[in-house]
Amino acid sequence: MTKLRKIVIPVAGLGTRVLPASKVIPKEMLTVVDKPVIQYVIEEAVAAGFTEIILVTRASKKSIEAHFETHAELEEALERKGKLELLASVRDILPPDVTISTVFQHEPLGLGHAVLCAAGLIGDDDFAVSLPDVLVFHSSGDHSTDLKAVVAAFEQNRAAQIMVERVPDDKVNQYGIVDCGDVEFQPGESHNVIAMVEKPAIGSAPSNQSIIGRYVLPARTMELLKQTLPGAGGEIQLTDAIDALIAEMPVQAYSMQGQTCDCGNKLGFLLANVEYGLNHPEIGSGLRAWLKQQEF
Ligand code: G1P
Repeated sequence: MTKLRKIVIPVAGLGTRVLPASKVIPKEMLTVVDKPVIQYVIEEAVAAGFTEIILVTRASKKSIEAHFETHAELEEALERKGKLELLASVRDILPPDVTISTVFQHEPLGLGHAVLCAAGLIGDDDFAVSLPDVLVFHSSGDHSTDLKAVVAAFEQNRAAQIMVERVPDDKVNQYGIVDCGDVEFQPGESHNVIAMVEKPAIGSAPSNQSIIGRYVLPARTMELLKQTLPGAGGEIQLTDAIDALIAEMPVQAYSMQGQTCDCGNKLGFLLANVEYGLNHPEIGSGLRAWLKQQEF
């Protein structure tokens, strides 16, 4: 196993679930309180030790990369005015040793296909995948707690790690679902997966443990993705490639400790703003006071 440095973040999707907001602004650039969603996802990855961020993107979403580039004019203006806190907030988004590369996904053929677009940059290295619709929230404020834990579990257990959480039984058809047999496992624990299925029909799912969009995978996954045929929704599914991996090496589901905020739909996006807003040092108390006054 190689040291984990690379993380693939697919951002080429059209964001149809949050239209019209995402017509021109990429859904990953919509703000939760004061930062675009993608910044939280990249900060989580960097805090967990990843130094090579690979965005699988499309040409119309250039603003995602631009957000992480130096903005010399803005920085000079803030420095001149002595607005040092704001200056730090735009200048120090990424530590100097972290790089962002981009590859294009030319056709929307599914998540598995998006990840496969990064194969040239992954080479023979093990890697992680993070889906930017989902923010992982921890009330402690360290939102990378679970990603750090799956990295550690991957290195200790020498098994692929798939982060999961339980969903209501009538929502299983919206997610990848893992089958771990009858084991009950606690938040923070990993257990071997027997099988995985993408978006099973309600009533036929092996469990209600859903894949939330954080994966740590061996390099071999890329080879399996090359052989993966279109599955659920006619798309090439990452879930199917990982299911094939189970025949070759242990794959484990990791039960997350934090909670997910799905910014890929309107209600989830609004709730993420409330959750992160309540936890925000500048506006948290004001938002809490306002919420208490409301008569719902
Ligand atoms: C993708 C994955 C699915 C996972 C989900 C999490 O589906 O294919 O396994 O449960 O993300 O958000 P999508 O939401 O892109 O349809």
